[in-house]
Amino acid sequence: MAEETAQTFYLKDYTPFGFDVENVALTFRLAPSATRVLSKIHFAPKPDAADQRFFLHGEQLKLISAKIDGVEITPELSDAGLSCTVPNKPFVWEAEVEIDPAGNTALEGLYMSNGMYCTQCEAEGFRKITYYPDRPDVMSTFSVRIEGDEEVLLSNGNPKSQGEGWAEWHDPWPKPAYLFALVAGDLVNYPDKFTTQSGKEVELNIWVRPGDEGKCFFGMEALKQSMKWDEDVYGLEYDLDIFNIVAVDDFNMGAMENKGLNIFNSSCVLASPETSTDANFERIEAIIAHEYFHNWTGNRITCRDWFQLCLKEGLTVFRDAQFTSDMRSEPVKRIEDVIALRARQFSEDMGPLSHPVRPEEFQEINNFYTATVYEKGAEVIGMLKRLVGDADYYKALKLYFERHDGQACTIEDWLKVFEDTTDRDLSQFKRWYSQAGTPRLTMDEAYADGTYTLTFSQKTAPTPGQDQKDPRVIPIAVGLLNDNGDELLPTQVLEMTEAKQSFSFDGLSGRPTASVLREFSAPVILERESSKAERAFLLAHDTDPFNRWEAGNSLAREARIAMVTEGSAPDPAYLDALQKLLRDDSQDPAFRALVLQPPSQSDIAQALFEQGITPDPQRIYDAAETFAQTLAEQLTDSLPRLYADTTLEYGYRPDADSCGKRALNFRILSLLSRLDGGEQASRQYYAADNMTQQSAALTCLLSIDKGEKQSKAFFTQWKEDRLVMDKWFALQVACAAPDKAAGVAKDLTRHELFTLKNPNRFRAVMGALSGNHAGFHHESGAGYRLLADNLIALDRLNPQTTARMCTAFQSLKRYDAARQNQIRQELQRIAAQEGLSRDTNEMISRILEA
Ligand code: TRP
Ligand code: ZN
Repeated sequence: MAEETAQTFYLKDYTPFGFDVENVALTFRLAPSATRVLSKIHFAPKPDAADQRFFLHGEQLKLISAKIDGVEITPELSDAGLSCTVPNKPFVWEAEVEIDPAGNTALEGLYMSNGMYCTQCEAEGFRKITYYPDRPDVMSTFSVRIEGDEEVLLSNGNPKSQGEGWAEWHDPWPKPAYLFALVAGDLVNYPDKFTTQSGKEVELNIWVRPGDEGKCFFGMEALKQSMKWDEDVYGLEYDLDIFNIVAVDDFNMGAMENKGLNIFNSSCVLASPETSTDANFERIEAIIAHEYFHNWTGNRITCRDWFQLCLKEGLTVFRDAQFTSDMRSEPVKRIEDVIALRARQFSEDMGPLSHPVRPEEFQEINNFYTATVYEKGAEVIGMLKRLVGDADYYKALKLYFERHDGQACTIEDWLKVFEDTTDRDLSQFKRWYSQAGTPRLTMDEAYADGTYTLTFSQKTAPTPGQDQKDPRVIPIAVGLLNDNGDELLPTQVLEMTEAKQSFSFDGLSGRPTASVLREFSAPVILERESSKAERAFLLAHDTDPFNRWEAGNSLAREARIAMVTEGSAPDPAYLDALQKLLRDDSQDPAFRALVLQPPSQSDIAQALFEQGITPDPQRIYDAAETFAQTLAEQLTDSLPRLYADTTLEYGYRPDADSCGKRALNFRILSLLSRLDGGEQASRQYYAADNMTQQSAALTCLLSIDKGEKQSKAFFTQWKEDRLVMDKWFALQVACAAPDKAAGVAKDLTRHELFTLKNPNRFRAVMGALSGNHAGFHHESGAGYRLLADNLIALDRLNPQTTARMCTAFQSLKRYDAARQNQIRQELQRIAAQEGLSRDTNEMISRILEA
């Protein structure tokens, strides 16, 4: 185990680097297993520096030579970097190192993917490229020369000059090393142009492997829309002559915002109707926007240290969600985001990995690119906006960009612009950044003589390392409805600051129905005693679409729980409400599809656990099956017609409207398949001219244990397309019955197209396995064992992706002793591996220790 050497870093220990970096010049002489990197860096000691030591990060580098002011030196080397004595005045550092991109399977630093060179430096990958103060508060301009035989040689900033076998780039904007990027390969581009609001023309390119040019159109449109949107909404303009995007097959995450040279997981940029689903299109649009928006929130203004990661990520996720709402449907986006937040962030917050939005310690920062930092970080910004109002929000942001452009900032800087803009004291609000855990909000209602009173109490359970929780500021958006569903009181934001607090509304003519936490105005768990009738009323009448969905969701959850705990039949009233809604053409199809989307089995498990009941994954699965079967049977007569009515008459378009219609059509097909043995699904499979409907049909078939023939046909049709093959791998595992899932996954890991070296492929199988709730948690323990086996194998190649996948085990405490023991055993088996990475070691220890 790496335990002895594991070092913990603390926010409280922050000290600035003792030197300024005035500029950086890098030369790359590319060769697959022996690339030379020459650096020439101008350092100047800071006169008032507390820390005068000269230490440069560097890992897995072969130092060829080092010079200070032209004189060869012999620095002191360690695994983490080098140190040496330096002059007490500005000096020039020169080094030559050798690295091995072809042998780099961690996909961090400079590595190769399909014969193409590319980099990933966030968070601390630049230190695997050359010796450098690899910390985000060290910012400098970079000049880069690339020497190589590849047709395309790219780096950050603007192109300076190029010739046969070389190219030079210059980035005029000072940046931290984590935003450095280099790409070299025989790529082709999909070009376009954008004229900024001040009239500057920007050259745009999406660079792909030959053959993928036809999958760039949608991404390019999304890029231009993002550029325009950021100008219109935030007044932010692009700041270089060129903006390049590169698609890479082997990539640890979604995409990376390197200055002027965004690098994307090819799954997050390449799109075509034949190969991409509606969900892919929406995700691609959002990620293109996300990375583009980082140009200001992340790059022009960056983070002082990695504890401040949410400063750029929370804000940028918030901005990309605003963008998606504007491009598509605001309520649909909100509902989707809340589903994801509950599934990913709430479960993180309730388990051993719970941490504040701004963590105060870490061993490996890569382990903190979490749902809490990203998604809860975005929620915190949404709350801030609600509290200060739209006008002051945009005023504060304007001040943020003016005051902090070119700086590396903290959450304190961020909150200060809001305090200065609004004169508010945000010290209590700041607890959202420092306290981990999801607050539980309980609500009581009282009505007398025209006065309606809501009383809320808030409580947050202890989380690892944080026993004490203080009350937070919670914006609670409330509207009041009368019996006809008319608004008595339009949405108002109540500002809760106490542990227990009441709010009264008077002058009412009768007892109202309250719609509470509209738009999900705060990331809390609202516990509300409320009759089924009241929720059915809200599902039918609430003027806030989010709460309409929420009412349905809570009915669904309750019905499911009753089935599991009491063995009751599916709630007839709820079945009835669903049937009405299904047929109600006055309602948005996308909304109807979301209400029909069953609550996830993992959510049901969590809900049971919260009620003190140990969830049985198999029973939860059976209840889901019974519910769907009952709903289908009750709809027997209308399903074929509903299916026909919701089938689009026009060809594929990825717009929000068409997506919503196809989503509803898919819900209907999945019900229909339970009655017709998959006949209609099979027809749809062969007739489909787009991946959304093709994969929907295959999903329906596999879910009823059919579709073997179609699955083979799918393989034959798509075996040359990696991204589509990822779907093929994932679908089979995701749709497998509980007792078969681990076996299916295991067989797939032996498939000739399975490889540990491609994170997408690994996630396709292992992510689908851990997402198949009843299959992963099957009592045999086969799911746990298979995942552990594969994590052990992957850790030797790619620690970052391994550590990330360990989160599959974070909910162990929900389950019975036998399952907990099985999980612990697997975790201990992983922990005992010789040479386990720091990344995985930290994750396993945190899960086991809590
Ligand atoms: N900063 C990137 C984003 O949110 C994500 C990121 C962080 C990343 N570390 C990474 C991407 C490592 C790839 C590999 O947009
Ligand atoms: Zn980001």
